[in-house]
Amino acid sequence: GRVTPLTIAIDGPSGSGKSSVSRQVAHRLGLAYLDTGAMYRAATWWCVRQGVDLADSGGVAALVAAMPLEMGLDPLDPTVHVDGTDIAEAIRDSAISTAVSAVATNLAVRAELQARQRAAIEAERTGGFSGGAGVVAEGRDITTVVAPDGDARILLTASEEARLARRARDVHGADDAAAVEATRDQVLRRDRDDSTVSQFQVAADGVVTVDSSDLDFEETIAAVLHVVATVTGSA
Ligand code: DC
Repeated sequence: GRVTPLTIAIDGPSGSGKSSVSRQVAHRLGLAYLDTGAMYRAATWWCVRQGVDLADSGGVAALVAAMPLEMGLDPLDPTVHVDGTDIAEAIRDSAISTAVSAVATNLAVRAELQARQRAAIEAERTGGFSGGAGVVAEGRDITTVVAPDGDARILLTASEEARLARRARDVHGADDAAAVEATRDQVLRRDRDDSTVSQFQVAADGVVTVDSSDLDFEETIAAVLHVVATVTGSA
């Protein structure tokens, strides 16, 4: 018979390894992958592209409400298109990383993107990329706001030290003291900005914390898969 669809919600701060872990978990379970941070980045790219002042909350909200966004949910090849333009790389620019919190703190933008995220999750429970198997959705407010009724809800954390070292390796290819220092301001500023949006660094009721500080990539995936198996009763 048909398997029951799974919705797996994963939240966490930047540098927790959330995106690569979520993608791999989705791939191994045959699920779709929804990167909600990429949606806030796409909205930011679109507003900049259209020349709206990001402080104009009404103007930004109107643009995002009509944004022709297409998210590709294949965990091995997640794509982002706006108005037919492939922006998967452009949304990783540091200019977007710097500007995104101005858009992500716009409450009308959040309501719009949260509605699209719920629709994408629902579509995967009946069809979509996964053919009804379900989705791993990751972000900052998935366990609490977007999918509080998810089948498995996980907060993926890591110590500040571990996150700074990972970020330094990503950006500078090294995690020596100088490289860590060079990323510290950016990482800490992002944490502060993101915290104004949602209290994602504390696990809500029913959310299981996985601390990846002392785990490598494979160990983190194993820990997440173990939580999923346990809470969905398939262990
Ligand atoms: O995970 P990321 O760095 O790609 O997220 C980009 C920005 O979007 C970041 O500032 C946090 C914000 N965000 C959010 O407010 N809610 C989400 N569900 C996901 C991301």
